[in-house]
Amino acid sequence: MVKHDVKDLSLAAAGKKRIEWADNDMPVMQKIRERFKKEKPLAGKKMSACLHVTAETANLARALKAGGADLVLVASNPLSTQDDVAASLVADYDISVFALNGEDNKTYYDHIRAAIEHDPVVTMDDGADLVSTLHSDYPEKCSKVVCSMEETTTGVIRLRAMHNDGALKIPVFAVNDAETKYLFDNRYGTGQSTVDGIIRATDFLIAGKKVVVAGYGWCGKGFAGRMKGMGANVIITEVNPVRALEAAMDGFLVMPMIEAARIGDLFCTITGDLHVLRKEHFEVMKNGAIIANSGHFNVEINIDDLENLATTKRENVRNYVDEYTLTDGRKLFLLAQGRLINLAAAEGHPASVMDMSFATQALTTEYSLNHKLQAKVYEVPQQIEDWISITKLKTMGIEIDKLTDEQRQYLASWEMGT
Ligand SMILES: NC(=O)c1ccc[n+]([C@@H]2O[C@H](COP(=O)([O-])OP(=O)(O)OC[C@H]3O[C@@H](n4cnc5c(N)ncnc54)[C@H](O)[C@@H]3O)[C@@H](O)[C@H]2O)c1
Repeated sequence: MVKHDVKDLSLAAAGKKRIEWADNDMPVMQKIRERFKKEKPLAGKKMSACLHVTAETANLARALKAGGADLVLVASNPLSTQDDVAASLVADYDISVFALNGEDNKTYYDHIRAAIEHDPVVTMDDGADLVSTLHSDYPEKCSKVVCSMEETTTGVIRLRAMHNDGALKIPVFAVNDAETKYLFDNRYGTGQSTVDGIIRATDFLIAGKKVVVAGYGWCGKGFAGRMKGMGANVIITEVNPVRALEAAMDGFLVMPMIEAARIGDLFCTITGDLHVLRKEHFEVMKNGAIIANSGHFNVEINIDDLENLATTKRENVRNYVDEYTLTDGRKLFLLAQGRLINLAAAEGHPASVMDMSFATQALTTEYSLNHKLQAKVYEVPQQIEDWISITKLKTMGIEIDKLTDEQRQYLASWEMGT
């Protein structure tokens, strides 16, 4: 059996069902897997992927393996691993997985080190923990890495910061920044699954509630739009004036967090930023306020502040809910220890949207092996995005118009006016 560290291999049968169910809604990945199986574009290539270990990721792993990759998969978050899926990948698909739901910080990094010690030529990240550990703890291994793919906004920000500091030693593709990724995954995937995670954790009625969303980026606007559709009064907090204007003109109330903190029933941070909710906000929140995060790291809510303000903390008053009682008797409820709620309490993004994100990952991996690249952050090539959008539309049974010759000429000209 392949090397692994998973919770319980006897969960494999349940995991396989889940993987196959997700596969039903991943037709673009099916096409890629079929072609990869025939052409073997990744034959013999060692790959290490640090991604959320979910049923959708399993289907990416299957495609990479079909293409000939020798893959190790590790978790990109201690709470997002689906243990049954991890078991099935090992037992049914012969893919090496190191991921345990609820793993502590040491185990999390031990797993990342196992991925690096696999000596990959291609890596994949969701948040850049693998690439940053590679650079800090294994600098000698960087020269073997041909390319890395980055799945999320926070990871791309970290990698651009590494490049600006002159620290980045490997080529990286900003998969997150492809339109086939963020326009759908961040907006509709995070939007829907964050609602799902909050409801599963709390069974909270959305209609009529005041829901405060910190950050009106791609994820935030997806979540806010869905909450509005379910009857919430949505309040947006922002630091970017253009995004704040966009939120206001989309019909949301926009205000500073210190004002929103007084009136919100439910708070969700999705900014990629640090300590967006902190002491001054907890001090004025209403009794019973629910606090969640869907941004990448568990730093958006200052949990130390909450711990310091609280006289008592009761863990797991309900699954994924910790209760903090403050000195004046108010209770605040923190979901999933401030980790991304959609992956901790729900199942992450629906398969249909990950079909596009992971198609972008798989095809960019193939591209990176066929091109000589430098140590910088690259955009995903347009031809990959075009193929994925056309293929996705086809699988949805949607046809679109084509430019006529006359229109093509008109759109390329400057002479024609009124
Ligand atoms: N939960 C998930 O499954 C999932 C999926 C995709 C992305 N993410 C993560 O979600 C986060 C947001 O991603 P995105 O694609 O929406 O990014 P984005 O850059 O499009 O949007 C982030 C927004 O937050 C705003 N912001 C920053 N600091 C703020 C503050 N202190 N208060 C209020 N607003 C603030 C920014 O101005 C920006 O408009 C990132 O950490 C990303 O990695 C999570």
